[in-house]
Amino acid sequence: MKIFPAHRVLLIGFMGSGKSTVGRKLAEQLGWRFEDIDEAITHDAGMSIAEIFQDSGESFFRLEEHKKTREVLNQDEVVIATGGGWAAVPGRFDEIPDGTVTIWLSVSPEEVIRRVGNSENIRPLLSCSNPLEKARDLLRERSDAYSQAEHKVDTDGFSVEDVSVRISEILQANNPRNGME
Ligand code: S3P
Repeated sequence: MKIFPAHRVLLIGFMGSGKSTVGRKLAEQLGWRFEDIDEAITHDAGMSIAEIFQDSGESFFRLEEHKKTREVLNQDEVVIATGGGWAAVPGRFDEIPDGTVTIWLSVSPEEVIRRVGNSENIRPLLSCSNPLEKARDLLRERSDAYSQAEHKVDTDGFSVEDVSVRISEILQANNPRNGME
């Protein structure tokens, strides 16, 4: 599928919004590589995210997340699944290079809890006595940041397939050469 002039797709959004599952599927459809930033960090560290948070602190994790995402944003023909906190840091959208299509996968807090269930290894931020309330608070804090993405795709009630098809449609509609070849 030709989707010029996009060189890469950056998926942002909250934990459990489907960035990794949708990103993998979309990359497969496009014939592009898939990069999961959380996975790259845990692979290099040889530790789970919860262990990194515990041993080195959240601020260390955020530095690694920033570094890895910046590296991958220099690459072409790649679908990138950011961690849910990446886009929430002020200034992040200024670092996104041209040729990047940014998509916010939105999700309700109730759906987050249904989807992520018990995953404290990956999501220490939701490992607390009231994860639903925490998800609501964090989503409220982060929504303005997420809304800076060029496109918003709702994921509640949609399958991974539905969401990746929707993103493919956005990419095709974005292509100024569409219909001219
Ligand atoms: C985080 C989201 C997680 C992971 C870490 C922090 C966040 O990634 O990076 O637990 O701050 O929202 P996912 O969004 O892939 O769950």
